[in-house]
Amino acid sequence: MNNIDKRVEEILAKMSLHEKIGQLNQPQTPLPEQTEKLKEMVRRGEIGSILMAVGATAGNDPQGDISVDFYNELQRIAVEESPSGIPLIFGRDVIHGHRTVLPIPLGMAASFNFDMIEKCYRDIAEEAMNDSIHWTFTPMLDLARDPRWGRIIEGAGEDPLVGASMAKAVVRGVQGDDLTARDSMLACAKHYVGYGAAEGGRDYHRAEISDYTLYNYYLPAFHAAVKAGAKTVMSSFNEISGEAVTSSRKYLTDILRGYLGFDGFVVSDYGCVEQLIPQGLADNRGDASRMALEAGLDMDMWDGCYHESLEKEVESGRLDIAVVDEAVRRVLRVKMMKGLFEHPYCDQHEIDRTEHLARARALARESVVLLKNEGNLLPLRKDTKIALIGPYVNERRSLLGSWTVDGKAEETPTLREEMAKVAGPNGGQILASSASGLSYEIAWMPYALIGCDVAVLAIGESWVVTGENKAVSNISIPEEQIALLKRAKMSGKKVVAVLFCGRPIALEGIAEYCDAILYAWHTGSEAAGAVTDLLYGDAVPSGKLPVTMPRLATHIPLYYNVTSSGRPVNCYYNQNAGNCYFDSIPTPYYPFGYGLSYTTFAYGDVRTEKDAIALDALKAGARFSFTFSLRNTGEYDAKETVQLYIHDPVAKMMRPLRELKAFEKVFVPKGEAVDVTLSVGYDELGYFLPDGSYTVERGKIEIYIGENCLTSQKAEICIL
Ligand code: NOJ
Repeated sequence: MNNIDKRVEEILAKMSLHEKIGQLNQPQTPLPEQTEKLKEMVRRGEIGSILMAVGATAGNDPQGDISVDFYNELQRIAVEESPSGIPLIFGRDVIHGHRTVLPIPLGMAASFNFDMIEKCYRDIAEEAMNDSIHWTFTPMLDLARDPRWGRIIEGAGEDPLVGASMAKAVVRGVQGDDLTARDSMLACAKHYVGYGAAEGGRDYHRAEISDYTLYNYYLPAFHAAVKAGAKTVMSSFNEISGEAVTSSRKYLTDILRGYLGFDGFVVSDYGCVEQLIPQGLADNRGDASRMALEAGLDMDMWDGCYHESLEKEVESGRLDIAVVDEAVRRVLRVKMMKGLFEHPYCDQHEIDRTEHLARARALARESVVLLKNEGNLLPLRKDTKIALIGPYVNERRSLLGSWTVDGKAEETPTLREEMAKVAGPNGGQILASSASGLSYEIAWMPYALIGCDVAVLAIGESWVVTGENKAVSNISIPEEQIALLKRAKMSGKKVVAVLFCGRPIALEGIAEYCDAILYAWHTGSEAAGAVTDLLYGDAVPSGKLPVTMPRLATHIPLYYNVTSSGRPVNCYYNQNAGNCYFDSIPTPYYPFGYGLSYTTFAYGDVRTEKDAIALDALKAGARFSFTFSLRNTGEYDAKETVQLYIHDPVAKMMRPLRELKAFEKVFVPKGEAVDVTLSVGYDELGYFLPDGSYTVERGKIEIYIGENCLTSQKAEICIL
């Protein structure tokens, strides 16, 4: 028994049942009039953790500033006045930033720069810990294929490898190397599992996921989070094929602990336990609590079900005390690992955020995706006369995105402010409307267009239609904004669209009116600065889509790692696509992995050291490596994310036509070439069978290397 386990057992042995159940109870910060009641509960040892938020969808509800004194006072009561003196753990949704806001996670994923993401999360952990936050409910690891789902913005898109890379980067960034450090927060991998598969993109809805799909698509990111050291997991609201995750021993214990090797504690999502009643699985709160705890759900967020009923469940003999003890052990162990027993209080200090903001800007620049650039319209010369038009010219809040609980709109520069800083000293001019309101914009626009060299339209989606409980049926931008685009295009001037969107949108009927498109997501505190850098060429775009951009919403689901139909029809890869839908072009508008630069890259032929390796040798660590030269043939120093996809043409189970298995973001100075090597081995060349076992089969594997998933540069290898 290690030291932590020994201490945990000593504490556990002295705790009353009432107190034990208290450790499994997580209410949220109360309204001021209920503060005294909360303090009393802490004093009696009835609370293990506090959710520092008002409302379930804290990402879209206004939140007040954090009072460190208030949380220190609660902690003091817990440590000095509660029966066992166990410190509280404070948790908050620090999803993609704290005071410094990073791009929404889907945008960050587009950077394909996971080292940079890790560094940015280190900054965020420092800021949040300084506000009493020990524990953040991030990373959100729900693979999503339906952009109607508002929460697609919180994840890393449609690919398991990108999801796993994000999981590792965020867990390591948030937790750092030493959990007890002053700048280390506990991460929480959520929402386990299958939440992103909600039918129709409707939030909280049922999901239908086979075990084959679960192991190959939905679990890898969670596996990566566990391997990276995530000590907590949040269970998801959804059912999977008739089984609610909340009460599922299969998902919460057999797979999470038995298969993935998770050894921390599981917290429910908001009100999940009570939700077993309307889900039709439990008759009352007592049954719901017992079912959830027995399944492996350790801490109950918000609904108070455990607090209210677990004692009775044990006393009546319906629930074995050993199940309670095990859950309490898990919670105490994590509290100890975090060092809360030694350092329970927040000792707030001044933080200089200059470098945090600089890193947030660098990440935002790399997150933006250049989708179109006819005639090399971008970058703009700094003396260009620009008509800057659209609802996001003077916007601050939407640039931050949803789940920005502690970011401040008033500290967020607008696009107009940032562009004026560059244009002013360089003889440029920004003809921007100062009033907001689209009818004014449309009336004013002809005047601005007459006088300008180029029109830049700052358009997109409001943060309000993204995030939790914000599904939409029409993944587009509002009609009035499309009208603005059309007008601008009809004027004969060149049109640049800066699209500030959370989710992928259907681009047919939009992209055709743009000469250039910068897909800027909701890129955080430094969104405007980053876009300005890119517009004027002080930075070169390098983002690549982590998710498919469809032509029409009616084409959903449309994702790149799809299997073959077996017929000569495939909407994604354009085989006989006319047979897919009669009335529309079904291929993606922009495919997974796509993104342009201001420069161009030439990929050289792929050289393979060995094109056949025996299965046993692969198992023992041998790898296939692929080397090619990457030449920057344009006028700008730039980064390119080179991608390697595989396809197994004959296997026991149907395999996707392409699967991303390796990538690297490479910097190449203009006019130069670098040799790049990507490799795949045992872990990349197989897949999971429906029982979860991993298999690598003998035979041929096709390898595709290039700039996005449609690349045709092909090699072939053989596993002997
Ligand atoms: C509900 C959300 O689903 C979850 O992501 C969040 O962490 C909790 N509310 C707490 O705010």
